[in-house]
Parts: sequence; C-alpha cells; structure tokens
Amino acid sequence: MTESPASRLPDQTADGSKPFAPCRVTAPDISASKGSGTPLVMVTAYDAPSARIVDGAGVDMILVGDTLAMVVLGYDDTLQVTTQDMAHHVGAVARTKPNALVVGDLPWLSYHVSIDDTVRNAAALVRAGAGAVKLEGGRKRLPAVRAILDAEIPVMGHLGLTPQSVHALGGFRVQGKELEDARAIVDDAIALAEAGCFALVLECVPDAVARLVTDTVPVPTVGIGAGRHCDGQVLVFHDLLGLEDRMRPKFVRRYAQWATDGTDAVRCFADDVREGRFPSSNETYHAADTFPDELRLTGSTAEVEVEEPAPA
Ligand code: KIV
Repeated sequence: MTESPASRLPDQTADGSKPFAPCRVTAPDISASKGSGTPLVMVTAYDAPSARIVDGAGVDMILVGDTLAMVVLGYDDTLQVTTQDMAHHVGAVARTKPNALVVGDLPWLSYHVSIDDTVRNAAALVRAGAGAVKLEGGRKRLPAVRAILDAEIPVMGHLGLTPQSVHALGGFRVQGKELEDARAIVDDAIALAEAGCFALVLECVPDAVARLVTDTVPVPTVGIGAGRHCDGQVLVFHDLLGLEDRMRPKFVRRYAQWATDGTDAVRCFADDVREGRFPSSNETYHAADTFPDELRLTGSTAEVEVEEPAPA
C-alpha cells in the first residue's frame, strides 16, 4: 500500500467524529513528501465536474493550469488567459472543496510587469481558492517568487518547456538537449528551491536532465514529458481522458476516449430523437389518466386557457 499526501489525510478524528478543520493536502505536505518513495500525482482541472473527478481519484494536487486557454477555451497557445479568467476557474474548482492541494497557474503578464501586480495577481488566485500558485521561469523570476512568498503564498516553479515563452523559444520544443541549456535548467532549479519554491514542474526535458534536477534539489519535481526520474507526474485532464484528441504529444498516455465516446453518445441521442425512440414513457412526466379530458385536450378543439402570470 503506497502512501501519498492525499492518502494520509484523516477521514475522522480519533473519537470518530469528522475533523473540524478541512483536511486538505497543503504545500508543506507536498514538499515534505520528497524522498517518500511514492510519486506525487497532479492532474489539471478547470471546473467543478473535472475537479470532482480528479479529486475523487485521490490525486495529491489539482493544477488549474493556463492550459485552460487551449483545452477549454480553444486558443492555440496559453497566452490568451488573464488573471481574471484563471481566478474564475480556480473558484469553480475550489468550490468543490477538494482534498487535493489546488494550485492556481499565474498567467502570462501577471508576474512580468511589476512586483505589486505580481503579488496582487497571486492573491487573486488565493482569494479564489488556490492553496498555492505556479509560475514559469528560472532565475529571472526570482524577484517575483520572493515577493509572492513574502506575501505567505506558496509557489511552485516551472522549468524546461515554459509555454508562456512559446515565441521566445521558437515553438513548443523539448528543452535542455544541449549541455549548456541543461546546466541552466539545473542552476535555475537550485535557485528556485533555495528561494523557497515548494515543488518544481519539469516540462519536456530529457530524462537525464530531470534526474539530475530531482537528485539535486531538496523539493519534489513533478514531470510532464520529463521521464520517470521525477518525484511525481502531471498530465492535463483532457489529454489523459482523450477529450483533446486533435494532437497527442509523445508523453501523453490516454486512459479513456471521451471525445470519441462522447461523439458516439450524442450521435445515438440524435438517432433516438429522429427515430422517435426518445423520450420513452419512462422518461416522461405523466398526469392522472383523466387529466387530458379535464383539460379538454382530448377530442376537443377548445383552446386551453393559460393563466396570466401575476404582475411583478
Ligand atoms: O498549464 C498547465 O496545465 C501546466 C501543465 C502542463 C504542467 O502548466
């Protein structure tokens, strides 16, 4: 039986009653899990149903990622979402009161302009219900990381392929393939961990680089396209469930085919409607048998009087 931060949450207090305080995974729980031997599990969610699904599966962290822009809102990159958008979706996830730690992704430009803006934007995600925020970038972002931590908000770092830099990087490409770039990722990771980040996402880096970072930093690494030598793994909800099936990066494993299953299901519904099979009698509300007569609907051409609503 493996022990993850989520599985360690008490269901009950010692006397058998429900605990008074909400039992949630916290950022300190996540950082303390380094070296536990049980990989961390993080999955994205963007609304209440997806949050219930992933929390019901017992994940440790729910990331309300800025992938929202691509998998939910239909944009081609993540640059299109604002702090307000992110807070809207963090709120939907947090209202389900998940056990997992809710991590709110700071979108592009929310931590690039000024330190005041940065702290206010991080606070907006916390007020919406996040227990931590994530931002992309290494040493360049240390002032932002420090300011958010100073406001008592836990920060998760994100290195390797940082999609908010898609134009500067020249596309969505694996990072750290050259020695110099790999060294920069390791140095960035050390700097973020020393600054106080409680965990680091490593996206699309060779497994040797992820392994070196994981062995070097004292906080958990959570990989996506970074191989197995990380302290945990994250996937995007829509990729994992096959809801997003237009592209499939190498690192995605699909555990369901919701897009095709959904289209098949809706096609069946359309056929049933068109063929008169829906709704059935069981799917219909019925009044007493005499009711249609009383309404003079049967065998009558008289119009049924409709009561006017009372004036407001
Ligand atoms: O926004 C997101 O979903 C992410 C993950 C891909 C790690 O940052």
